[in-house]
Amino acid sequence: MSRSHAVICFAVSVIALAAQPLRQLTDQRGIKLGAAADPSHLTEAAYADTLAREFSQLEPENAMKFGPIHPGPSTYNFGQPDSLVSFARQHNMAVRGHTLVWHNQLPSWVTSGTYSTTQLSGILHDHINAVVGHYAGQVYGWDVINEAFNDDGTLRSTIWLDSPGIGLSGTAYMEQSLRWTHEADPQALLFYNDYSAELVNSKSNAIYKMAQDFVSRGVPLNGIGMQMHFTTSNGSLASIESNIKRITDLGLQVHITELDVRLPVDSSGNATAADLAAQAQVYRDVFALCLKFPLCTSIQSWGFTDKYSWIPGAFPGRGAALEFDTAYQPKPAYKSIQTALQSSPPVISAAALTNAASYASGAVARAFAQSLPEAASCPARAACAQRWAGKKR
Ligand code: XIL
Repeated sequence: MSRSHAVICFAVSVIALAAQPLRQLTDQRGIKLGAAADPSHLTEAAYADTLAREFSQLEPENAMKFGPIHPGPSTYNFGQPDSLVSFARQHNMAVRGHTLVWHNQLPSWVTSGTYSTTQLSGILHDHINAVVGHYAGQVYGWDVINEAFNDDGTLRSTIWLDSPGIGLSGTAYMEQSLRWTHEADPQALLFYNDYSAELVNSKSNAIYKMAQDFVSRGVPLNGIGMQMHFTTSNGSLASIESNIKRITDLGLQVHITELDVRLPVDSSGNATAADLAAQAQVYRDVFALCLKFPLCTSIQSWGFTDKYSWIPGAFPGRGAALEFDTAYQPKPAYKSIQTALQSSPPVISAAALTNAASYASGAVARAFAQSLPEAASCPARAACAQRWAGKKR
């Protein structure tokens, strides 16, 4: 090969690297990259193309919640979530399920009925059986329980715990929900998911204590979901790191489940360049942090385009929280995620660098995967679930 040919080949490789979709980079790092998605947008080409091109996982933002999926005592609405699951299958994406036991987005037949604890227990058990059973083998992991603790670490008072509850006190109702879910799909990974519990604090201490108890007694809990609805000042990264460390030290996985970084926006929804840069740094920090832990296995944002995000509705005056702008153009956050994925340790081995010239053949990906710890590069969901389950019990 002449020198000029070599230079051209190198340049082409560099361009190919720069243009790599994020999901290729996260595949190489052995983690899933997810986005919350809404089936009603799948007919929009830019939405569907971006979702399939950039992400290896999706999670219905609302479609699998109790109210939408089970609107009447014997009515199940599987059509909408099924369309997301089949989109995922077509595009070789994993599906996370969200969520089975939560105090929000419940149908009025549940909240307005006057049920005994025994009846309510039956309602929840049936719900879990029907929904988890329907998606068995298609949804690889569930946020079984969502947001069950208050910020001070006490249990949130909810219809499932004590008003009137399913008849079990303390964390026993969560244990029961996990056991029911495990019975409905023994292969699925089961998560407890919450917000404002990323740092070491009263809430995350309570979650940790529960997780420790469940692990020690063999309750089917596989991981903790950290929502990460962030701003540009979230407190100490070192504290988040300690929290991830203590959870993964139990043998549990950590999934980052609802990442977004809201910014002040003007009346057109635009943020300042300085805020977009600060946001990019937060995304970069979160990815780099997760990559430090073999058992931090999935990072998911709550949506992916600023065109569709819950932030402006939930936090008036805030927005622009995601990786793509309203026209599906990558923002500085997107670039910083690329950088984190390409530059965070474990670094590419010398052998992989040598292979970089033949990048197109996939040599880098292989070398990279081989350099990762076993848990981080686990390729098959069922095998991984078994391996991880076996490891901790
Ligand atoms: C939000 C959705 O994004 C909104 O569309 C919906 O109106 C309300 O719920 N924590 C969770 C998510 O676990 O289910 C919530 O999703 C955001 C906060």
